[in-house]
Amino acid sequence: MTRKTVLIAGASRGIGLEFARQYAIQGWKVYAGVRTPAKATELLRVKGVEVLPLDVTSANSIAGAAWHADEDPLNLLIVCAGLYGPETTSFLAPGDADFDAVMRTNVLGPMRVIQAFADSVIGARGTIAVISSEMGSISGARGSKGLLYRASKAAVNMVAKCAANEYGPRGATVVTLHPGWVKTDMGGPNAEIEAYDSVVGMRGVLERVGPAENGGYFNYDGTPITW
Ligand SMILES: NC(=O)c1ccc[n+]([C@@H]2O[C@H](COP(=O)([O-])OP(=O)(O)OC[C@H]3O[C@@H](n4cnc5c(N)ncnc54)[C@H](OP(=O)(O)O)[C@@H]3O)[C@@H](O)[C@H]2O)c1
Repeated sequence: MTRKTVLIAGASRGIGLEFARQYAIQGWKVYAGVRTPAKATELLRVKGVEVLPLDVTSANSIAGAAWHADEDPLNLLIVCAGLYGPETTSFLAPGDADFDAVMRTNVLGPMRVIQAFADSVIGARGTIAVISSEMGSISGARGSKGLLYRASKAAVNMVAKCAANEYGPRGATVVTLHPGWVKTDMGGPNAEIEAYDSVVGMRGVLERVGPAENGGYFNYDGTPITW
């Protein structure tokens, strides 16, 4: 059996780091994209991972990573980098700097990363997983907590859907995933699940999905989420 290849965009900490760890243990070839490789100390200790400079807010950096990871078609692309931004609890419009940082990281970044690696994924008839959030579900939204983050995740959900419409017919499967409420720097210590369990769940989902699930939005345990 040929060795499978995955590229993770945003693998220095949290869920992305855990994806890198688990796919490396499974024997996959792992490209772990991080914006500051020297600072990704935990990742650098993971055996069998190739660490690549990849800042999702920089078109040049994405192009460089795509050039670097050109050797093998990607069976899996995981777009995981994310930024929460202001921890608002009511309807408070963000300032320009917060808006730009969150939208560039959570929306423009995934657009560019998906575009840069799509042909490689299509070549492998592989899968693109966008790590979004249930906070991007419009039908499921209650209250206005984390207004900017929610807006960014609703936007990236549409990015994933458009990617599914475009690349699905060409052989890729594109899915949007909610990782659960996970104990990471973003999720905080009171979150419900460990990164290990979230990633075990999402790996299971990613193993099962194919063309019939193209354009789907799933919880980490595989339950569909309404848009
Ligand atoms: N944790 C949760 O409960 C939860 C729930 C729903 C959805 N999510 C989503 O899951 C994904 C991962 O979240 P997490 O909990 O692992 O967050 P985290 O612990 O805060 O880690 C965020 C990751 O994104 C990376 N990143 C941020 N900006 C980047 C950029 N410009 N280029 C490359 N990488 C960048 C960070 O790298 P640096 O180390 O360089 O900052 C870090 O590796 C995010 O998309 C998040 O929205 C998380």
